[in-house]
Amino acid sequence: MTSRLSRRVALFLLTPLLLLFTRKASGREEPQAPEEDWIKVTSRVSLVHLGSIDSFDKTAAGIAAAKLMLDALENNNLESAKEAVLTYEKIIPNENFGGEYTAIQWFGEYLLASPQQQEAFLEEPLVAEFFNFFAEDNFASLKEYLKRKYGVGELEDEGSKAAIERERFLEDFILFNNPRREEWEKTSKMLDSLKIEPGDTIADIGSGPGYYSFKFSKLVGPKGKVFAVDTVENHLNYIKGVSEKYGVNNIELVNNTTDNAKLPPEEMDLIYMCSLYHIIYSTSLEPVKDRFVESMKQALKKDGRLIIVDNGIVEDQTLPYHGPYIAKELIISQLKYYGFRLIDQYAFIPQRYILVFQLG
Ligand SMILES: C[S@@+](CC[C@H](N)C(=O)[O-])C[C@H]1O[C@@H](n2cnc3c(N)ncnc32)[C@H](O)[C@@H]1O
Repeated sequence: MTSRLSRRVALFLLTPLLLLFTRKASGREEPQAPEEDWIKVTSRVSLVHLGSIDSFDKTAAGIAAAKLMLDALENNNLESAKEAVLTYEKIIPNENFGGEYTAIQWFGEYLLASPQQQEAFLEEPLVAEFFNFFAEDNFASLKEYLKRKYGVGELEDEGSKAAIERERFLEDFILFNNPRREEWEKTSKMLDSLKIEPGDTIADIGSGPGYYSFKFSKLVGPKGKVFAVDTVENHLNYIKGVSEKYGVNNIELVNNTTDNAKLPPEEMDLIYMCSLYHIIYSTSLEPVKDRFVESMKQALKKDGRLIIVDNGIVEDQTLPYHGPYIAKELIISQLKYYGFRLIDQYAFIPQRYILVFQLG
């Protein structure tokens, strides 16, 4: 009995070694991932960061600057506007990279500008629309935002579900359509790298309020088409309003679901996702993600490209993107599983990368 037991224990202990030996002897090695798929994990920086609580951190300096801006708007106090602009100047290099500070500072600079300079601020129609949204009714929405976000004033509906949704929408809107976005993101360089042709069909998935959709609309021209796809109706309504006002008729709106991009089959020359795949990667249930990626695959033309722009990890003294970020290797590896091949990649700032994929 004892010897049968000890034989079993010996077999149990030896089996892994035997398996290893048999594999080596038969020349059957464990598959190794190609070098570019290896992820450097000897870093104090997390490979995936979802954002949330600390992504929109309210610092003492941020609150002070918001207070100054509110005073400038409520009391027409240009001294406060000047001080707010200077405060943002000091804190922008140290906090909130790619965040809203540059947008609020832009409003401060507008207040200080001469009427002629103010006209120049609003030359670009989409920037003028952004301005109108916040400036209408004596800057009502900008004041409301400063109060909601930084708690620098009273609001009647504080804490309600509607108030939380409104703050989220205002925060998204000021971030995504920030007139200073080109400066931190190098948007034009990103667009050049995409080599978009007039007549192309592009799906801007997770379009938000259309920062990229409107740029694509110009680039593809009247013979091309843009699908602005988002799960949030408020964003699409904004795109609709601006399109109607400026006679933009090559953008189609798609209010999709998290498991389906809801695009027509095999029509897209390009599917573009800016700052969205980290959400899918880290929050979607597997079957939901499978269905979502499958719906993108079906929408692409045979030689169509999938472009993923997201926020990368940075090390040392470089300020990371203020919100969520994800190591690009995680996306490259996952999309490989789904049948995509990385054909190009670019980065014009350390905090943001552009990955170009094709099927097959
Ligand atoms: C971080 S924002 C980026 C907005 C825009 N791409 C930009 O760069 O300005 C992500 C957007 O994706 C939308 N979104 C989230 N999950 C989505 C999904 N499964 N399909 C489509 N849009 C989604 C959100 O509503 C939000 O507007």
